[in-house]
Amino acid sequence: MTERAQFVTRLGAIAATVGSAVGLGNIWGFPCSAGSNGGGAFLLIYLGCVFLVGIPVILCEFVIGRGTHKNVSGALKQLAPGTKLHWFSYVGICASIMILSFYSVICGWVVEYLIQAISGNLSSQSSDEYEKMFGAFVSNPWRSSLWTLLFLLINFLVLRRGIKKGIEKVANLLMPILFVILIVFCVNALTLDTAKDGLSFLFHPDFSKLTPKVAISAMGQAFFSLSIGLSCILTYASYFRDSDPLFRNATIVALLDTLVALLAGIMIFPVAISFIQGTGDKDSFELVFVTLPNLFNGLPGGGFVWSVLFFLLLFFASLTSTISMSEISISFFQEEHGMSRTKATGVNTIVCMVFGVLCAQSFGVLSDFTIFGKTIFGFFIFLSNDVLLPLGGVFFAWFVGWFIDKKFVDNQLTNFGTSEVSVWRKPLMFCIRYIAPMVIVVIFLYGLGLFDAIL
Ligand code: TRP
Repeated sequence: MTERAQFVTRLGAIAATVGSAVGLGNIWGFPCSAGSNGGGAFLLIYLGCVFLVGIPVILCEFVIGRGTHKNVSGALKQLAPGTKLHWFSYVGICASIMILSFYSVICGWVVEYLIQAISGNLSSQSSDEYEKMFGAFVSNPWRSSLWTLLFLLINFLVLRRGIKKGIEKVANLLMPILFVILIVFCVNALTLDTAKDGLSFLFHPDFSKLTPKVAISAMGQAFFSLSIGLSCILTYASYFRDSDPLFRNATIVALLDTLVALLAGIMIFPVAISFIQGTGDKDSFELVFVTLPNLFNGLPGGGFVWSVLFFLLLFFASLTSTISMSEISISFFQEEHGMSRTKATGVNTIVCMVFGVLCAQSFGVLSDFTIFGKTIFGFFIFLSNDVLLPLGGVFFAWFVGWFIDKKFVDNQLTNFGTSEVSVWRKPLMFCIRYIAPMVIVVIFLYGLGLFDAIL
């Protein structure tokens, strides 16, 4: 048997995991959710969710993945032998395919807009023209299907090269570029006249805006942004080396992910504060594909530079995320079904291409086809984000906190006693066993409207 791949350096492992976490969810989702949920108040709850639920669940996935060095199904089989718990791996695999399918549609739009930006078509148009351009593009489903397929092909080409030469190399290259682009945007945003208003909206919590809906959105956003609940982080952790410090890595990943979300807020709010405050989540497409390109025109240096940089940023961020979603099923096909890397990657790509095109067509020929009142695109988002991610979070917290051997968890958290015992270990285990599952369940039930009758 050939030896299982690992990330070569600790930095590479962190870059890849941060690459997974940082994506459209941070650069686009966070500013939109924060904008439509009251800014500062949302941010506070979001930070609470990251620290009390996010970091504990990341660590649960790290412990299972790094402790077994196996794909999610193999890992659950090893840790819960003789039980049916490994069936849970299918939840992660199916959810990752759903997320990948709708995510790739948006990534396809990003690729199209990147090319439009480079060819100069996004600069100096009137706002009506931007609106028309986007409407024409989305409702031409074949064009957007084609870009979805192209994006999945790029995804395939990176993944086929494997862990070291594909994922780690791409993450090491793209993540630093992504940070530089973000910082250029933020510095520019801070020089605008509207900077003060934008920042005070984001950083001054208005507690009258705190509602259950804000809490639900904040938790959903934290889960999606940290890539937790699906076994995506678990799969990456299975490529970590035994010497990698799990607690420190988890904290670094969560902090960097949150930093990028905040930087995205700092970059977007001063530019588009008035637009964002007035929107619900639904109009958020318009923010990225209509409003921002239009506003970039007014920035120093002109629309060309800013729109190229912006879509490049979105493209890099999304590619490092989609490769991580794909790795869940690729490692499963490879290790549980004995497929070669290329074949496993091919199967994942073809399945996602089929569902991706169905999602793209939700804006075209399938726009009238609904499941529970939602288009396929909307249904995939609802099922994966609102149901399966929180379910996965509770499962992993229960599995590590209550089910598996405590010694196993301890050995992973301390690297078999070789690294010092962190003072955080006790509070952390408390969060894993009690706080995280409770918070998730309460917010989840709120989301389903179960408390409506009581409150
Ligand atoms: N975190 C990514 C983002 O913010 C998306 C993502 C990648 C993801 N892998 C995931 C979301 C696994 C949920 C589960 O865009």
